[in-house]
Amino acid sequence: MDLDLSHPTLPDLRARAKRRLPHFAWEYLESGTGEDSAIRRSREALDAVVLAPAVLKGRTEPDLTTTLMGRTYTRPWGVSPVGMTGLFWPGAEITLAQHCVAQGLPFGLSTVAAASVEDLAPHVGDQGWFQLYPPRDMDHCEDLLSRAKAAGFHTLVLTVDVPGPSRRERQRRGGLQTPPRITPRLFLQSVLRPHWSMAVARAGVPSVRGLAKYASPHEPARHVGLAPHAAPDLALFKRLRELWDGPIIAKGVLVPSDAVMLRDLGFDAIWVSNHGGRQFDGAPGSAAALPLVRKALGPDFPVIFDGTVTSGLDVLRAIALGADFVMLGRPWLWGVAAFGARGAAHVTHILTEDMTSGMIQMGITRPAEVRDRLWDQVIG
Ligand code: LAC
Repeated sequence: MDLDLSHPTLPDLRARAKRRLPHFAWEYLESGTGEDSAIRRSREALDAVVLAPAVLKGRTEPDLTTTLMGRTYTRPWGVSPVGMTGLFWPGAEITLAQHCVAQGLPFGLSTVAAASVEDLAPHVGDQGWFQLYPPRDMDHCEDLLSRAKAAGFHTLVLTVDVPGPSRRERQRRGGLQTPPRITPRLFLQSVLRPHWSMAVARAGVPSVRGLAKYASPHEPARHVGLAPHAAPDLALFKRLRELWDGPIIAKGVLVPSDAVMLRDLGFDAIWVSNHGGRQFDGAPGSAAALPLVRKALGPDFPVIFDGTVTSGLDVLRAIALGADFVMLGRPWLWGVAAFGARGAAHVTHILTEDMTSGMIQMGITRPAEVRDRLWDQVIG
């Protein structure tokens, strides 16, 4: 199958993934919380970004190479940490890490992924970012960090927007429980998806392997929103700063004054995100918050962004609003669930071609130059 013809966009991969995943897994991946309004707001804010094309500039040769926190990546995007990644396709974490190593992109592993840091150690190379949901017990937290370091992860991502669980009504209706349990209903949904069921039969039912070591009969290793983890506070951040010698990113920031406060505390980058709309349905679209956060932090502080990015044009829009780097979560799982490793490669192919084409239309060679192509500014 020529994927370029049959699946030219990320939503095409999404449609195929939906046909291959059982309903409960699909709902876990796709849902926000409440009415999914925060997801809609993210999408609307990106759609509202209009850019100016160029004329008589000749043909430019775009260069997507991007340096972030002292490391150079081949393109300004990477794989966001996603909870229970291996639920969407067995081995998805390893497939995506290998893709990132081959392509020179950052790979984010969630604390509550199915695979553990040790599972990733042989595959993650020098591309690993480890996302932390701090276990309540500080000894467990320290142990987890030293395991991540030993496995080769160099950048720590502290999620700051989960002070407690959200309701995730769609996920509930879908039937997924925490910890995951195969009920007759889930079994039936799985039987209807033979490719997925066979892959799971071969690989085993996914669980949160990275936390298994710390589980007790009272607190089994569960996945988030309901996992037992500490709501991060100032004391925790100070301890992390002592324990972790690499960069620490604050993930899940929308309020400009919070971004400034976190920078002044000593975080190395701010990640603007509304957590894929999964935590607080009252929150703004992440692309609506992005320019405000950029303005508050000034032009030079590293800003990472996620939220409904589904094309190379979206990557450009986010950079135009002030992002240095863009992360995607769901689209990688669409790719892997649709076509395995080939699907992951196709996601990067689509984003690269679309972003390059957009830059040629605007007559720019470096991604950051898109900030001079915002329509309102150009027409003055
Ligand atoms: C979620 C957690 C795992 O959004 O971050 O499901």
